[in-house]
Amino acid sequence: MCGIVGYVGKKDSVEVLIDALSKLEYRGYDSAGIAVFENEKIAVQKSKGKIKDLLAKMESDKRPTGVCGIGHTRWATHGEPSDINSHPHGNKRISIVHNGIIENYKQIKDFLITQGYGFESETDTETVAKLLDYYYDGDPVNTICRTIEEIRGSYALGIMFRDFPGKIFAARKDSPLIIGVGENENFIASDVPAILKYTRDYYLLEENEIAEITDREIKICDTHREPIIKELQTATWDIDAAEKGGYEHFMLKEINEQPTAIKTTIAPRISNGMPYLEESGLTKEMLKNYNRIFIVACGTAMHAGLVGKYVIEKVARTEVTVDIASEFRYRNPLITDKDLVILISQSGETADTKAALELAKSHGATTMSVVNVKGSSIARASDIVIYTHAGPEISVASTKAYSVQLSVMYLLAFELAYAKGVISEEECKKLTKELMDIPEKLAEVLELKERCQFVASRLVNSDSLLYIGRGLDYALSMEGSLKLKEISYIHSESYAAGELKHGTISLVTEEMPVIAVATQSDLIEKTISNIKEVKSRGAKVIMICSEDVEDDKSVTNHLIKLPKINDILMPMLAAVPMQYIAYYTAVLRGCDVDQPRNLAKSVTVE
Ligand code: M6R
Repeated sequence: MCGIVGYVGKKDSVEVLIDALSKLEYRGYDSAGIAVFENEKIAVQKSKGKIKDLLAKMESDKRPTGVCGIGHTRWATHGEPSDINSHPHGNKRISIVHNGIIENYKQIKDFLITQGYGFESETDTETVAKLLDYYYDGDPVNTICRTIEEIRGSYALGIMFRDFPGKIFAARKDSPLIIGVGENENFIASDVPAILKYTRDYYLLEENEIAEITDREIKICDTHREPIIKELQTATWDIDAAEKGGYEHFMLKEINEQPTAIKTTIAPRISNGMPYLEESGLTKEMLKNYNRIFIVACGTAMHAGLVGKYVIEKVARTEVTVDIASEFRYRNPLITDKDLVILISQSGETADTKAALELAKSHGATTMSVVNVKGSSIARASDIVIYTHAGPEISVASTKAYSVQLSVMYLLAFELAYAKGVISEEECKKLTKELMDIPEKLAEVLELKERCQFVASRLVNSDSLLYIGRGLDYALSMEGSLKLKEISYIHSESYAAGELKHGTISLVTEEMPVIAVATQSDLIEKTISNIKEVKSRGAKVIMICSEDVEDDKSVTNHLIKLPKINDILMPMLAAVPMQYIAYYTAVLRGCDVDQPRNLAKSVTVE
């Protein structure tokens, strides 16, 4: 939700800021803006729309010049996307960019109005800018300390004071911020990909820390102005990982990266052919002694958790409760200090998932996160972290992050099953080996691109469709349905195939295609009966199944066949055709695949 950047060095800051912002555009793309020190003044340019619209505006209007500045790409919360509501906000003396939400902005605004301040925008951010101005006493750090004492909510702030050219200031609480460390140049950014072109070294700014940054120096202190010495972090992500690398969209690139991402995620967690999660601090002894296991996450990550539930319950015979984080946090869940709460998050910054983590901790439960972004808030706050190694996922629609999250769910299920003595060492090794073979099988599935493209061409004019499945296929179909609606804007529901006749089947007409996921051999006959029910009511049916299923036109119109592997692992293969179908349908409909409307990659507001 919003990306912020800052640069101070010797280069043309506008060029650096625009480049860095383009790497963060996945965080929001409703508007963009920059502020740059130019001839001892702060020059601001901002525009509704994407970064390309900001560039066009600078071309036709004025492009500021200078070597120090801040920038922002916005996902609108307070106030519609417009030039006025775009960041930076401030006045001649102060300019700020902000990621987060100021909860008490109304009280601050009312107070500042009584002090003679006027407001142009509808944003919460402008109140912070004006509050900084109100407290400004010639000492930026003091001013920032007094201001953040007053504000409630979440913020990562990049700040410039006209009286301090060549310096940027930063502060954060509950929204991520890193400080990139270069040679005679330094940066601030919401996320690592923004700085990778310039440096791999960075500091993680922690809660309530304030940074003062010039081209040669970075000073960090707490709100009592006590200096803080930080450990330098080094990014391991490849620069190319944040580029499209010849693909038309990040989503297509990321779909194709799945075999490697899975291999990189599972390889370090397998020892002597057995799952090995102990290096993350999760011992077999701990694992088998938890009373209950909760999995809490949002969106795609929650769907990975649902597959995890089916697999853990099936293989390890252990009950798992899966919750949507925004529900979990307010349903007063019955958690104790004997439970394990697993948080799944690609970004590691999702506000509801983070709040669920805090709730679990407050009940004394052990918290374990499955996170892709190193050093993210959720990772840092958890007792145990299992990092997935998908590399940066830029497309808003999650694909490779889902697959690596699934692969961790399998490792966990196998390890737990073995620890509890539900499966033997031999069985555990066999399952682990089958998981290790997935990347190779996936490479075959990726070849189904054209078949999926064809299926997409059959869906492109639909207004609505149904995804159906039973058991693991039902859990999986939820992800297929989310992917499709998210990027193609075709309304889609996923439904338990056996539940259709209890209401939803009344929606089925010739106009409503049905995608049936039927990869589970013990359930396929039942799913086929449900398919026949919709087919006889006119629906065109696409079935995703394993290669041993016969092509029967009385059942389906189109089949997508996957290599036959152990049923329990089929979700890892079946995710790909669902991702391809969503992708090609969106492309055929002319949608903005990587940046679907109204969405942002990292949801740091509740
Ligand atoms: O970063 P997270 O995994 O916590 O994000 C959770 C969801 O917002 C995310 O999975 C979302 O549903 C996907 N981008 C959808 O493709």
